Amino acid sequence: MKPHWELNDLHWDQLIPAAVSPALLQTVKTAALIEANSGDYVSYLHNVFAGDDAFKAAADRWGDEEAQHGLALGRWAELVDPNFDFAQALARFRAGYRIPVDAAASVRGSRTGELVARCVVESGTCSFYSALRDAAPDPVLRDICHRIAQDEAQHFRLFKTHLERYQQREPLSTYARAKIALGRIFETSDDELSYAYFSANAPADARYDRVRFGTAYWRRAMSFYAQRHLQGAAHMVTVAIGSARLSRWTRPLGRLLWMATRWRLRRLEAQGAD
Ligand SMILES: [Fe+2]
Ligand SMILES: [Fe+2]
Repeated sequence: MKPHWELNDLHWDQLIPAAVSPALLQTVKTAALIEANSGDYVSYLHNVFAGDDAFKAAADRWGDEEAQHGLALGRWAELVDPNFDFAQALARFRAGYRIPVDAAASVRGSRTGELVARCVVESGTCSFYSALRDAAPDPVLRDICHRIAQDEAQHFRLFKTHLERYQQREPLSTYARAKIALGRIFETSDDELSYAYFSANAPADARYDRVRFGTAYWRRAMSFYAQRHLQGAAHMVTVAIGSARLSRWTRPLGRLLWMATRWRLRRLEAQGAD
């Protein structure tokens, strides 16, 4: 089944390159690479959910939509910056960063745990594209991000449905689900974002430095968030964890995330970070 919107549905002739800030362009280029790399995640999910044909078919459709997100963002970035070669940047990213596609079991310890982590990722992407949509001065990017944010919300519901099914068969305690969710949010050992930022934006002769490029990406991406976007992400994560008691803490959690984000952004700015 094809994704429910196409690149030709977008009004590319309305693009306003002059309105786009360097930080926004760098952020979108990075996101384009991560989205376009979804094929590896489909292979990984096929291995982890071997024998579950319904889930594997859903993962195929999901992968097609994520790949399309990458194509739309990559094309937008090439139109704004004619020096950007999306295919070349993607090849650079894939040459240096691979997820464990051959894993026979989930890196989260169980299929239920894998689905908790997938829900957390979709919560993050849904809030991210909502934030970019609301901050983007260019109408084409606003349209792209609006469509992607809706897809990400749908992906969240898809993984949540399968999570509920697996929770019946291979149950995890609320504590275990919360631990996996928090672990995925604060996954610091992962190179994905920093290597994508490096591949999309660093000169060809630059040396990769995970902390430097990871911080550069975080600083740009988070600068587009408003408190409501973090509030939305906190709500979705508590839904994925599935605790009614925890859901009462969504608002204070969202506010805490917002305050911590603003504090770190101010600190990085004062330090003169990249
Ligand atoms: Fe996506
Ligand atoms: Fe998604």
